[in-house]
Amino acid sequence: MKLTDLGPRNGSHSRTFITLLFGTVLGFMFATFISSTTVRLPEYYRQREPPTVVSDPHTGNDLREAAGPEQDVGQHGAHEEAHAHENASLAQQLQREVRILCWVMTNPSNHKKKALHVKRTWANRCNKVLFMSSKEDPLLDSVALPVREGRNNLWAKTKEAFKYIYQHHLDEADWFLKADDDTYVIVENLRYMLYSYSASYPIYFGCRFKPHVKQGYMSGGAGYVLSKEAVKRFVENAIPNPQCRQDGAGAEDVEMGKCLEAVKVLAGDSRDSVGRGRFFPFIPEHHLVPENVDKDFWYLQYTYYTPDEGLECCSDNAISFHYVSPNQMYVLDYLIYHLRPYGIVAHSQPLPKKLSFGEIVWAKDATIPPKECPQQQQAGTLESLEKSEKPPNT
Ligand SMILES: *[C@@H]1O[C@H](CO)[C@@H](O)[C@H](O)[C@H]1NC(C)=O
Repeated sequence: MKLTDLGPRNGSHSRTFITLLFGTVLGFMFATFISSTTVRLPEYYRQREPPTVVSDPHTGNDLREAAGPEQDVGQHGAHEEAHAHENASLAQQLQREVRILCWVMTNPSNHKKKALHVKRTWANRCNKVLFMSSKEDPLLDSVALPVREGRNNLWAKTKEAFKYIYQHHLDEADWFLKADDDTYVIVENLRYMLYSYSASYPIYFGCRFKPHVKQGYMSGGAGYVLSKEAVKRFVENAIPNPQCRQDGAGAEDVEMGKCLEAVKVLAGDSRDSVGRGRFFPFIPEHHLVPENVDKDFWYLQYTYYTPDEGLECCSDNAISFHYVSPNQMYVLDYLIYHLRPYGIVAHSQPLPKKLSFGEIVWAKDATIPPKECPQQQQAGTLESLEKSEKPPNT
């Protein structure tokens, strides 16, 4: 093309107009032809979830229902500027010492929509991950458990999942986390909390709820983690125990709480050293922003420890959030593992001290006379019980 062709010349305007008109008419005819013909798209495209394209998405809510991205969002190189200066040696040490198997509750209709985005984000950081479904799927390497799907089969599925893990993977980890396909977990912080405990203690942790079970139970959505000993007791003693619900129905998390109590698995205290929560049944926004919810919201009646408002709600070493949309999994991954305020370098606080089982049970056992436990006031009221829940020196 000669340079002179680029400039506007007399006569070229009408030619451009005719070309444009011709193109428009041709395009319109082609579009009419396409839409009037039944076009069989390849299987892959027909299976696709229609992406939620909001014409002008301003708030996070607009995209809350959006299907996660088809393509992975990619990775930053480990040697580029910011990441080259990271020191993950402590996290790597804990990865070896506090081995976690994560199993994710999912179902065939969520494999691609939700579970895939769990796999691409936080689940990678577990020592081992299993997607528990009722269908095998190479996308996730999912396990096909012999259960029917649906909310009313979740309890059956949880029992089958732990039986499967007990039979095939018990030696591959020390701790066993159950999460949903809309739970987001900061695995390093889970290891940090668990470091104080031996996996030979019968204990489990999560977002602790008060009703239905004497020692409380852990909310299903925020995820809960069982020690190896707790898994053994659950599969060997609880599942066959008539005190434990034998059919597959019921609220999965409540039934789990009852069964574990029946085989003397302790409901642990997952709050941090200053009493802030670490497992959350909602997205961060929900816990962080005060007056977001009604005073008679069920969560406030259910929660075992009275939650503090505002920034006091949540530990800097929080472990899990629930109802995280597929897109938000990637957002949290970015905020937690990438975005850094330049010039502020965090050094990890020292590892917590290992607790003996006695130290954990100590404050929980309200039958111990007060004189044997010097720091305990008269046990009895729920409030004093709650205060004493915290193991000493943590
Ligand atoms: C990384 O941190 C560990 C302690 O967490 C320290 O011992 C080590 O020297 C650090 N490495 C570098 C390269 O700074």
